[in-house]
Amino acid sequence: SRPFRIAPSILSADFARLGEEVDNVLAAGADIVHFDVMDNHYVPNLTIGPMVCKALRNHGVTAPIDVHLMVKPVDQLIVDFIDAGASIITFHPEASDHIDRSLQLIRDGGCQAGLVFNPATPLSYLDYVMDKLDMVLLMSVNPGFGGQAFIPQTLDKLRDTRARLDASGYDIRLEVDGGVKVENIAEVAAAGADTFVAGSAIFKAKNANDPHAYDSVIKQM
Ligand code: DX5
Ligand code: ZN
Repeated sequence: SRPFRIAPSILSADFARLGEEVDNVLAAGADIVHFDVMDNHYVPNLTIGPMVCKALRNHGVTAPIDVHLMVKPVDQLIVDFIDAGASIITFHPEASDHIDRSLQLIRDGGCQAGLVFNPATPLSYLDYVMDKLDMVLLMSVNPGFGGQAFIPQTLDKLRDTRARLDASGYDIRLEVDGGVKVENIAEVAAAGADTFVAGSAIFKAKNANDPHAYDSVIKQM
């Protein structure tokens, strides 16, 4: 019943042309911008921080920016991303010393808050914080890199999560991240996801310099 949302992950964009890349996916029909923050500590890769989020806002991006924090610790970066114009901020519960406090920090800053579950992270982290969540993000790969294969067990976990969210009565989005492509998105949606991160499937399309390079792949999703 709720509308589906496509969230291109700029991890696979051309960083030398980032503003243009984001403009092009939004013009092609993307709903929100997925912004992967990696710290070479919580995950074995290093990406971009609040300055780049701010730069996208200054460039004129008005779409929601969905900040996926793969960092430890989390609280200082939550504050910095609120200041940088983030719309949604999600973090991995095992990377936070005080999960409830980190969630409240996000909402107190006027952003939507979410928890991220790695493939083997138990859903029990949802216990006792459902009322503080706007989004649950299930990783369908191990975090750190784009271009990995979708882990099929995620489909069962999506069904379990969907059941829990529906039973809670709260309005919480269910996002999936990793290995989502035109070929499997229908199956992922049927398992209960409503928000779909796609990095390589979108940005590795041919002729990325063409402003319309992403139109057909996003239309098919
Ligand atoms: C992985 C990131 C993902 C990644 C997805 O740690 O969280 O957002 O960019 O990339 P694809 O869609 O290529 O699996
Ligand atoms: Zn991500």
